[in-house]
Amino acid sequence: MDLGLNGLRAVILGGSRGIGWYTAGQLAREGCSVALCARDADGVAKAAETLQSEHGENGGSFFGESADLRDADATRAFVRDAIDKLGGLDILIHNASGFDNKGDEEGWARSFQVDVMAGVRAVEEALPALKDSSAASITFIGSMASKFYFGRRSSYGPAKAAMRAYANELAQSFGRDGIRANAISPGAVHFPGGSWDQVKQSQPEFYGKVEKAIPLGRLGTAEEIARIVAFVASPAGLWINATHIAADGGQVAAVD
Ligand SMILES: NC(=O)c1ccc[n+]([C@@H]2O[C@H](COP(=O)([O-])OP(=O)(O)OC[C@H]3O[C@@H](n4cnc5c(N)ncnc54)[C@H](OP(=O)(O)O)[C@@H]3O)[C@@H](O)[C@H]2O)c1
Repeated sequence: MDLGLNGLRAVILGGSRGIGWYTAGQLAREGCSVALCARDADGVAKAAETLQSEHGENGGSFFGESADLRDADATRAFVRDAIDKLGGLDILIHNASGFDNKGDEEGWARSFQVDVMAGVRAVEEALPALKDSSAASITFIGSMASKFYFGRRSSYGPAKAAMRAYANELAQSFGRDGIRANAISPGAVHFPGGSWDQVKQSQPEFYGKVEKAIPLGRLGTAEEIARIVAFVASPAGLWINATHIAADGGQVAAVD
């Protein structure tokens, strides 16, 4: 199936590592141009270079900028620069998280800035360009913690839940402008160097229990999540709108 991504332009907030990085690769493989940000400037530069060397032949162009999504001005500047460099925008993906696991004042503030407000700010900057696109989509990377209590009280799940509600509001508000909006929630995802890789090394028994609790007997991979994100964000996913998609391999044992 042709996803229709060839020649489209995507911005990924938080794209130098992990699910955001695998998503960038998936889009680039399909001929999409990608602009990404992250805090670490070396990581951003390496990501953009690697996309160019591995996928440049597919026709896309690649741009990276160091930006901290806790910072309103930096977030808005990155999105403006990205749209300028890409010559427009079709796909906006908000992938980064504040990853609060404490639930203290600082954690709540970080979740609010990164998971929620960075998305709001990026959307505001991107709306004019998205309205000009004939294949516009906004995709939020959420978490199953937005609907299930995983045993740790923090702002992480509530922030992801706000993200889901915001995605629906965008879809309802801007559908007439041809803009779709959705949220995709991974369950536990393993990739080299990721948070679950660290758990695998430091707490192998706990990791094994999580694997056993997932019907497919293992954690998901970042590549598997990236394929779902690419499909939902692409023109091939056109009739998926205003919705939340669980991408957890059945980890959360609920009907919907
Ligand atoms: N991994 C999982 O098992 C899992 C499960 C459920 C949901 N998710 C969700 O999936 C998304 C990606 O998770 P991941 O595990 O792939 O994360 P990750 O490996 O930690 O990668 C996060 C990416 O975002 C960037 N980033 C983080 N904070 C940032 C900030 N303040 N400003 C700019 N960039 C920032 C990171 O680069 P820098 O550090 O250089 O900034 C990196 O490129 C998150 O929204 C997470 O909640 C993940």
